[in-house]
Amino acid sequence: MSIYSRIAGTGSYLPSNRLSNQDLVDCLAKLGLETSDEWIKTRSGISARHFAGDSELTSDLAVKASQAALASAKVQPMDLDLIILATSTPDNLGGFPSTACVLQDKLGAHNQCAAFDVQAVCAGFMYAVSVADAFIRAGTYRKVLVVGAEVFSRILDFQDRGTCVLFGDGAGAIVLEASDHPGILSSALHADGQHRDILCVPGRSANGALSGSAFLTMDGKAVFKLAVKVLEQVAHEALERANLKPEQIDWLVPHQANIRIMESTARKMGISMDRVIVTVGEHGNTSAASIPLALDVGVRSGQIQRDQLLLLEGVGGGFSWGAVVLRY
Ligand code: UT7
Repeated sequence: MSIYSRIAGTGSYLPSNRLSNQDLVDCLAKLGLETSDEWIKTRSGISARHFAGDSELTSDLAVKASQAALASAKVQPMDLDLIILATSTPDNLGGFPSTACVLQDKLGAHNQCAAFDVQAVCAGFMYAVSVADAFIRAGTYRKVLVVGAEVFSRILDFQDRGTCVLFGDGAGAIVLEASDHPGILSSALHADGQHRDILCVPGRSANGALSGSAFLTMDGKAVFKLAVKVLEQVAHEALERANLKPEQIDWLVPHQANIRIMESTARKMGISMDRVIVTVGEHGNTSAASIPLALDVGVRSGQIQRDQLLLLEGVGGGFSWGAVVLRY
């Protein structure tokens, strides 16, 4: 009999500090930067975002989201076989040690389960879920915690109005369990390093100092154009692998970067916006955390029901992108 992986529980966490567009506009004005609620809303669909406190780390956000996911899955931390954490803002420079190892300790999962980070920026959760699914289907592991967690506020340049108004902090998590019933039906992952410069943090660590900028830089227009193109392609690819048509999908759960990108993908797929989980307005772009955050909001709001078909998709720096089709 085949083994599949199935979502046993979801969880998420947003830091308590919520900034509306107007709050941010007022803060930025003090720094001499001009922007407006109207510009942010019309260009991106974002109304607010949450920023972590000074002492809050990615692993702290990840713990809260993971505890919620474990509770809803009725799984104890000590029963986990593997923890995969997708992040581009690890606790320590160079992601060393991995934030997944920090999370394991903070969760009290002291059973020496495997733990590692995945780096595919905003597509990180798609990569992490695909890897977890492969481990479960191979029979290697039975209970896997998959997390996306970020503190992007730490890498934002508050002198660059083209980026600093778009991102937020947060974490989302799922527990994937081995099951006789599918579960994850298909996934498709891609990357193209030729486009690595359009969305990146250019700085490098050199001889004990930072060489170059530690802030996120983005060519918004280039990212937008490429994102719209590859998201449609990868969504179709994942659906074909699952032998499904877009009209059979109950919910599209996209990466929450820009409402215009989500609307474009949904329109091209023939999926109406009332079948799309949208959280970008309240969360902003939380990179690897955005899809599991949206998924958990969809589940806890009662929109997403058991046995429904979901299409998850994400795109980000690298350039990297991916999609996952699953029966919830
Ligand atoms: O998560 C990874 C994936 N990331 C994304 O998917 C982001 C993709 N890109 C985007 O979402 C959009 O390109 C943005 C929201 C970043 C920008 O929207 P846009 O429609 O492409 O605007 P733009 O960059 O062409 O800027 C238009 C104007 C410019 O002024 P001029 O040159 O036309 O006079 C900018 O200087 O808007 C100006 N501008 C702003 N004005 C007020 C840029 N940022 C701001 C701002 N407030 N915050």
